[in-house]
Amino acid sequence: MSESAGSNPIKVIIVGAGLGGCAAALAMHYAGFEVTIFEKIRKFDRLGDSLGLGENALRLLARWGLHDQLIKIGNKSEDMQIRRWNDGTILAVQPLMDMAGYIGHRGDYHDAFLERVRECGMVINMGHKVVAFDEDKPSVTLEDGREFEADIVIGADGIKSQARELVLGFKDAPKSSGYACFRAYFKGEPLKSIPACAPLLEKDCVNIWIGHDMHLVQNTLRDGEEFNWILTHKDTADIKESWFQPGDMDEVRRLVVGWDPMIVAAVEKTERCLDWKICYRDPLPTWVSRSHKIALLGDSCHAHLPTSAQGASQATESGAVLAICLKLAGKGNVPLATRVYEKLRFDRVRQAQLNGEDVRDRWHTVLKTVDDGKDIDPDDVKIKNRWLYPFDAEADTYARWDEVSSIVRQELASGTITPLFDPKVGPARKLVRYDAFGRQIQHDFVHEPAVPAPTAVVG
Ligand SMILES: Cc1cc2nc3c(=O)[nH]c(=O)nc-3n(C[C@H](O)[C@H](O)[C@H](O)COP(=O)(O)OP(=O)(O)OC[C@H]3O[C@@H](n4cnc5c(N)ncnc54)[C@H](O)[C@@H]3O)c2cc1C
Ligand SMILES: *[C@@H]1O[C@H](CO)[C@@H](O)[C@H](O)[C@H]1NC(C)=O
Repeated sequence: MSESAGSNPIKVIIVGAGLGGCAAALAMHYAGFEVTIFEKIRKFDRLGDSLGLGENALRLLARWGLHDQLIKIGNKSEDMQIRRWNDGTILAVQPLMDMAGYIGHRGDYHDAFLERVRECGMVINMGHKVVAFDEDKPSVTLEDGREFEADIVIGADGIKSQARELVLGFKDAPKSSGYACFRAYFKGEPLKSIPACAPLLEKDCVNIWIGHDMHLVQNTLRDGEEFNWILTHKDTADIKESWFQPGDMDEVRRLVVGWDPMIVAAVEKTERCLDWKICYRDPLPTWVSRSHKIALLGDSCHAHLPTSAQGASQATESGAVLAICLKLAGKGNVPLATRVYEKLRFDRVRQAQLNGEDVRDRWHTVLKTVDDGKDIDPDDVKIKNRWLYPFDAEADTYARWDEVSSIVRQELASGTITPLFDPKVGPARKLVRYDAFGRQIQHDFVHEPAVPAPTAVVG
């Protein structure tokens, strides 16, 4: 038993019961800690649409008793077809386990996560909105004025995180990724009678049509019962960061004029969709408050583009790493744990994020080659996520603990924590190269462009 699992366990408060908060709760519970979860929503609806879980996350979730439930939801299509926008020509076929992992409905996965958290005896305090943080105690205050203290507070409160403002000391405005999505999710029944799209409803499948500066991802879920399409297009309009903004179907129909009749027929039949600006954040120079006792996790500090297909998986890894760090540091040493955690996580998360930019850019430009009369190398359109999957976040934490914790001990003693990257230079970016099997063969470090200094300060 770890030193913290005895009669005086580490007390953890988790703000937010999304997939990231639930994964963190399971990791903390399995490390022997006392976990309190606050979620502002009263009752979760089945929100969102398709979401991928990679083997890197499933390996960890399995250790926390959450595996078969997820496989049942997501292990239904073997591969995805990457097609040319106008005629549907298949440019590449890629095993799903190689790109997005197990694809299921976000709401179905979320239900499984919530159920497992409750099975483990943890209470999810629904309808409990955190409105203030005290980073020194540390504590959180709810809307009704009640205050709760713990050894560590974890801000798993999503892309619009309030905990992030406290950690950074300023309001971090959303940044447009330069693209927006129209997304629709509906019962597939009405499509079954349309000959052009009937084949898409025989069983779960994934198809991606790529065009100039645009791509459309189609999934069929729940054994052909539910249909999902997500059209990503260039968009520089003002950002309204919302999961619920209705989209204009007339505009969508205009965007797909001349596309493969198979997908046009499905879009024609679609009644409504959401207009979803793909908001992104610049990488943060720190994930931890100045007191070292409030740590961010998941979308609050590392949101991913949909093309990364790793948002929930990386949040799961972060939960695992933070739990092991706390266990190794011990109850009296939360600052050591949180500062090792962010250092262990930053580079890997950044690469998972950049994979999403990489594949989007390749999908949106590769057809220029075809227009020039050249053949496409199928490898040019594949998602290169395979190398992310064999990673064991817990084993990696144990392996690197001594090295990184000794650096952090010195930093804490000197009172100067090195930021996760130098904002004047930008984060070091590892350029990974792959062989034909998607194995990592080489990498170089270059620097991303500098991230402009924040201006807006929270009052
Ligand atoms: C509505 C919705 C739809 C999504 N759809 C998709 C999708 O289709 N495909 C996909 O790949 N990804 C989707 N995502 C993103 C995906 O769920 C995340 O990338 C991943 O699960 C990690 O999320 P997270 O737990 O860090 O944050 P989130 O899933 O955003 O969870 C954060 C939680 O914190 C709660 N919270 C926020 N502030 C407070 C507060 N002050 N007090 C208490 N609780 C608070 C929120 O209510 C929320 O439940 C969606 C997210 C949301 C919120
Ligand atoms: C997923 O399904 C495939 C094909 O049916 C099967 O071979 C594989 O073992 C399944 N994976 C898991 C983890 O159960």
